[in-house]
Amino acid sequence: MLAGVDEAMAQAFVTLIDTTMNGDIITSSQPFPLDDKPDLVALANDHTRSIVQTIEDTSPEINWWQSSAERVPPGWQHRSAATELIGPEGSIVGSGTERFGLFYLSANIDYPNHWHNAEEFYLILAGSGEWTIDGVTKRNGPGDYSRTPSLAHHRIVTGDTPMLAMWGWSGDTSFDSYAY
Ligand SMILES: [Fe+2]
Repeated sequence: MLAGVDEAMAQAFVTLIDTTMNGDIITSSQPFPLDDKPDLVALANDHTRSIVQTIEDTSPEINWWQSSAERVPPGWQHRSAATELIGPEGSIVGSGTERFGLFYLSANIDYPNHWHNAEEFYLILAGSGEWTIDGVTKRNGPGDYSRTPSLAHHRIVTGDTPMLAMWGWSGDTSFDSYAY
């Protein structure tokens, strides 16, 4: 049954990737921006393997981006990659009160403490990382869910493996309140 859910998620993901509001195929894609991206499927588990394989297969069509160095704490953003599937920058614009996408962080990276108005969630798909939210640290791996309340200070640290997750923001999804 879980495998069926995973395959259904993978099919839904392809729909998000391939479709814009008016039904056109995305044409602004660029290659995954990191040189040494590992085999993420090998870092998934039984519950996330189908969706990670689908992400790998469709990665050339995904408009991966990196955060602007002026906007985020220094030292990590060139070792990350993100995309927004639903939201103001996504293929489906939505209401503006939600952002939903993918986030990748290389191994041995410290994404330092930061905070923002939006509530945030991560569903880890492959690899693992340590989340510290308002001083409480928890290691999350494939299938684990992490939620950060509005304005809570949070940090993500990866170890020997990178981490791929679904991420989402809700509420005030403007980047204006992002601070560190
Ligand atoms: Fe955040």
